[in-house]
Amino acid sequence: MVTYTVTVHTGTRLFSGTSSYIYIQLRGTEAESEEKNLNDHFSLGFKGGSVRTVEVECKEFLGELIHVKLSSKKFLNIDDQWFCDKILVTTPGNDEILFPCYRWLGCGEDLVLRHAKASLVFQDINPISQRHRMRQLEDLQEAFRFVDTSAEWDVYAEGMPHVNNYDSASALPSEVQFSFTKEIEFAYTALSQMIALKLERLADSKMNWGSINELDRLFSENNETIDYVQKHWDEDEFFGYQFLNGLNPMMIQRCSKLPENFPVTEEMVKDSLGGSTLEVEMKKGKIFLCDYKILDGLVGNVVHGRKQYLTAPLVLLYCDSHGMMMPIAIQLGQKAGVLHTIFLPTDSKTDWQLAKIFVRAAEFSVFEVDIHLLRTHLLAEVFTMATLRNFPFLHPLFKLLIRHTRYTLQINIMARDRLISENGAITTYSGIGGAALDELLVRATASLTYSSLCLPDNISERGLEEVPHYFYRDDGLKLWNVINKYVEGVLQHYYKSDDDVKKDTELQSWISEIFTNGFKGKKSTGIPETFQAVKDLIKFVTMVIFTVTAQHAAVNNGQFEFGAWMPNLPTALRKRPPVKKGQTNEISVLETLPDVGTTVNGMAVLKLLSTKATDHYPLGASLEELFDEEVPCTLIEDFRKDLNELTVAIEERNKKLELPYTYLDPRNVDNSVAI
Ligand code: FE2
Repeated sequence: MVTYTVTVHTGTRLFSGTSSYIYIQLRGTEAESEEKNLNDHFSLGFKGGSVRTVEVECKEFLGELIHVKLSSKKFLNIDDQWFCDKILVTTPGNDEILFPCYRWLGCGEDLVLRHAKASLVFQDINPISQRHRMRQLEDLQEAFRFVDTSAEWDVYAEGMPHVNNYDSASALPSEVQFSFTKEIEFAYTALSQMIALKLERLADSKMNWGSINELDRLFSENNETIDYVQKHWDEDEFFGYQFLNGLNPMMIQRCSKLPENFPVTEEMVKDSLGGSTLEVEMKKGKIFLCDYKILDGLVGNVVHGRKQYLTAPLVLLYCDSHGMMMPIAIQLGQKAGVLHTIFLPTDSKTDWQLAKIFVRAAEFSVFEVDIHLLRTHLLAEVFTMATLRNFPFLHPLFKLLIRHTRYTLQINIMARDRLISENGAITTYSGIGGAALDELLVRATASLTYSSLCLPDNISERGLEEVPHYFYRDDGLKLWNVINKYVEGVLQHYYKSDDDVKKDTELQSWISEIFTNGFKGKKSTGIPETFQAVKDLIKFVTMVIFTVTAQHAAVNNGQFEFGAWMPNLPTALRKRPPVKKGQTNEISVLETLPDVGTTVNGMAVLKLLSTKATDHYPLGASLEELFDEEVPCTLIEDFRKDLNELTVAIEERNKKLELPYTYLDPRNVDNSVAI
């Protein structure tokens, strides 16, 4: 007889333990063990967080261990799931072999685990492992299917990235359930956030605000950023600051020639430029543009029975001698002429204020639909689906990427159901809801490019290398480099040559599915269809991890902080934009801004979108021990050290700032799109 020692680690998550009978079978290249009941006489089932060691006696040596099979049988008819973290097997030769699990096992179900040593498809030469590898992918491809939602979702039109085939978060297969709980699902409603904010009594009010100061009564708790926004929202300097470090730091670009449809004259801006001229300042690289043309022609939604108004503004900005980004001209539409006056800081207080409010409302639409929903959530879903469908568990890219997919499918299913469905909160309470949202998503998808998703390329394409006080760029590029170094280390360990990349059929299917389902098979996006070289793979995987971690954190986490003070980010506007100068006053501003009910519903949605789950994990944290080889394990440690150093540097920098920029501090960056 030979003895194998098996150590079973039950998860620490809520309800990980089970009362069910759990059986284990060890499978090697030479033989298989009998099925062994892991319950002993003294302890029925497994407690959460428990570690149990049992001995498995075998008649003969099993050869090289390939699989561990776990199965579960009911105790007393109780249907009880079990969350197993990992199994460690010590062989008779004293080798310790790790079998990562990190999945739920339901009663009557089996799980076949592979050892932790990663391998590429052409390296996995044992026929048993090859069969298992293929079968696992067939099962996953059956369970997770890309769906073109145009047929099923009338609010979700053709032309968007494809999504997963489930319409309920809790119906998703165990591979992606992680520790997802009903409580998380329950909290994901605008109403539950409204109750948390103690604002539900105002939810249906169609009253105007009596004054902007009245909004102060909506806040029961102090938040330094919200207080700052409340104090500075109407200042030009803060308006300009938000193009660099606000919710959408992706739109501003250097302007070396005015667009023909934005005829700003030297006369209009001479005061703002302190006596200099546009021509001179453009040559110096000090003039910037934000162009919301993607919104042109979209028809506003109906909210509380009233039509809402969307505009497609053009904003000209000047980086002044103090390095501040100051708005110097705003046109609230794409056609130059009498209908679209160019507003200036020298106009009446309320004319200029309303012009900025319309820009901020346009910002809500573009930010929420293009920058947040499409460029992080929907792309993260495509990356998640392609990863689940194309990489078996022992592929190094599965091990590298799976922690960056946690909760993404769940959160997107819930967002589709509760925010942008026919009765969803965004459809009901925002100017961009309904048909306009569909159209904007289609336009945004059509404008996706690979370079815009790669931060270093994106910054140079927009000409923003030199702009001062651009903390999103400064922290983002550092984070990009930290992620890139880690990805490069791991991938160069597994792909020794470009030939290895070309031969990896699983990898080629992965990128092909991303190209087809995420980017509609459009070569003009610059997204690769295949990988030919290790360096191209490293860049792409860096982009994937950066997008679902750093980029999502940068655009997601400040939604309530920047948007809770409604005039800074109105979700809908009730009156047409001003056409002529000198015809507005404080009353017209209040009549334009959302009513009381729309305001509090908007706040509840922004709160919902920024509230992290209680069990969120920051970038670099890994609960799962998926690699057991020395090189990737050392690289993960180095990655964590680099992230900690970045945190220290950001904290130091922030001490000197009136408004600290914290969104890309690695401690505040989630490991995945999980909210
Ligand atoms: Fe999000």
